[in-house]
Amino acid sequence: MGVIDNAAVVVEDGRIAWVGEAAQAPDADSSTDLDHRAVLPGFVESHSHLIFAGDRSHDFAARMEGTKYSAGGIRYTIEQTRAASPEQLENNARKLLDEYARSGSTTVEIKTGYGQSAESELTGIQVASSCSDEATLLAAHVAPPEYADKHDEYVQMVVDRMIPECAPHAKWIDVFCEKGAFTEDESRTVLKAGMEHGLIPRVHGNQLTYGAGVQLAVELGAASVDHVVYLSDADVDALANSSTVATVLPGADFSTRNDYPNARRLIDAGATVALGADCNPGTSFTTSIPFCIALAVRDLHMSPDEAVWAATAGGAAALQRTDIGSLTVGARANFIVLDAPNHLHLAYRPGVDLISGVWRDGASLYERRSA
Ligand code: NIG
Ligand code: FE
Repeated sequence: MGVIDNAAVVVEDGRIAWVGEAAQAPDADSSTDLDHRAVLPGFVESHSHLIFAGDRSHDFAARMEGTKYSAGGIRYTIEQTRAASPEQLENNARKLLDEYARSGSTTVEIKTGYGQSAESELTGIQVASSCSDEATLLAAHVAPPEYADKHDEYVQMVVDRMIPECAPHAKWIDVFCEKGAFTEDESRTVLKAGMEHGLIPRVHGNQLTYGAGVQLAVELGAASVDHVVYLSDADVDALANSSTVATVLPGADFSTRNDYPNARRLIDAGATVALGADCNPGTSFTTSIPFCIALAVRDLHMSPDEAVWAATAGGAAALQRTDIGSLTVGARANFIVLDAPNHLHLAYRPGVDLISGVWRDGASLYERRSA
């Protein structure tokens, strides 16, 4: 973690120019005394689905009364998203990005996936890329109603039209490899087609059942495989011996009453673990990484240090970025100021808003008004 007590950070031209003990700090043009509050790297959210319209709070309530979550609920959001204008989609995404920023996230990856037609995914990826440098084409999330019984034709359309048209606006290609969504072979076809168009793969895998997602991600050298709840020993081994990051998203397991992933097992085996909030209307309608840190510590058996690392440096690894996720010289000056003496308070004070300031590229993004 590299925690420094009584520290100072010097920022110049949006980057970290110096970091160390305050007594040794070089002179600066201006300075701010943070009164011993903790300064952390901004959270790096490597998994969100912000391109959508509509509300699924009733689904959530039904689940809390015993209805089981299934991938099919995505279709309701597809209907709502297709009916929305690009402006409505962008306003909704920007509102949620603002929530993310206020709770400490300075980088947010954004997936499409609620259009699932060539036209609607193109709109989605254009909106996503206008809001974030980390735009992901989730071309195969769930087959839309008009293709429900024609998966082959849907995958063909994704390969022939959706990927070629959307790739110029995206960095990543993602797929939901899961029972009720897409099979291993279908997922491989989609990811490979994306790679041929210059996109880097990431995978939704092993969320609801044991399955092929992890092995497929490792086979293709994916940047990350996300959810990773149901893992065989071979899956854990494969992750430990690969560069694919295992991303845990406990907000989704919380809101679906799913099992939680065993992050302890992954870390002990040597896998790199990232932690995200997975904001989406279906399974995890939260933008709060601090909430997910508390869940990760309490229920995924991560130490507070591991959870904070996973939400910062881990997220950066999942996005293959070296300029964010840590407060090292040369990194972007993306940081948060906590209303607390150290980072342990993020899990120690669950549900309490401790974020008093957020900075990105050396500029203030959010400052809590003092009373
Ligand atoms: O990350 N797993 C698939 N996709 C989303 C949920 C989608 C939905 O239910 O709307 C997730 O959990
Ligand atoms: Fe997801």
